[in-house]
Amino acid sequence: MKVSDAFLSRQAKHRLAGRFTLASPFSDRRRVVQAYDHERGSQVALKQGSPEQLGREWTRLSTLSVRGILQPTLLLPAMGLMVFPWLKSDNFALRLRADDISLLEGLALLRQVGQAVCHCHRQGFIHGDIKPANIMPLLGGVLIDFTGASDIGMPVSQVIPCYLSPTFAAPGILRNQGVMRESFDWFSLAVALELLICRQHPFAGKSIIDMSEHAGRSGDHCFDWQACCKGHEITQAEFMGVLDYCYHAAEQRYAEIHPTEDGSLPSADVGREWSRARTA
Ligand SMILES: Nc1ncnc2c1ncn2[C@@H]1O[C@H](COP(=O)(O)OP(=O)(O)OP(=O)(O)O)[C@@H](O)[C@H]1O
Ligand SMILES: [Mg+2]
Repeated sequence: MKVSDAFLSRQAKHRLAGRFTLASPFSDRRRVVQAYDHERGSQVALKQGSPEQLGREWTRLSTLSVRGILQPTLLLPAMGLMVFPWLKSDNFALRLRADDISLLEGLALLRQVGQAVCHCHRQGFIHGDIKPANIMPLLGGVLIDFTGASDIGMPVSQVIPCYLSPTFAAPGILRNQGVMRESFDWFSLAVALELLICRQHPFAGKSIIDMSEHAGRSGDHCFDWQACCKGHEITQAEFMGVLDYCYHAAEQRYAEIHPTEDGSLPSADVGREWSRARTA
């Protein structure tokens, strides 16, 4: 969305909506900024968008009172703003890039996010844009950014492509096939899980349909990406099964290697263990 120059200069000079002082300005690329809410005396995250877009996200979120999903505290449609509590952490993508999160911590937060995703599906919709940048590694793992949420059963062709992150999107959505379904979220979570375990993106930073013939075959993989390309859809049971396997392997290995220390497990060990389990 284009942020008007008038809006930008107004926000720099004044309190926004009479109560928020922004830590940094909004821009076309940065739609969420930290701000101080003078009325409540607390730091908040302000999300900017069109009244329709924010209204849709607000309505979705209001049906989800569950751990792992952050509730907005205020919607100001006339100002094009939605307010959330400020979470004092970089997102999961940045923490992974900085190698600043342990394997066990990452697995635990994906487990909580997985449970939150089940809850969304029970309410009849999918998140639609799961990726590490939409996961906050706080409070045990928080899924954010419901801008791209869609009703299960809605034709994929009706999805607005700008809400998609191709490197985490399932083949069905990339190929514009069929209807929105739960497996799309499990696929994206599976990509995030493999990124955490192997510390590299399974399709070398591309989309699954752009990856090379060999990319999904070589090395250790938690999921059969070639089968996904041919139509296999990752289910909740499959994702949770792999996650639990990795979690227990990580816990066990951690206890062996660091019986008294509070450290993290070298991720390659779990990758190798998982690979051995798959081929056994
Ligand atoms: N409540 C919050 N507290 C702290 N940081 C937040 C919060 N909400 C969002 N962020 C940060 O802002 C980023 C963008 O937020 P969000 O994904 O909701 O907006 P977006 O504009 O739809 O993002 P994108 O288009 O990049 O997916 C997040 O990746 C996260 O780093
Ligand atoms: Mg986002």
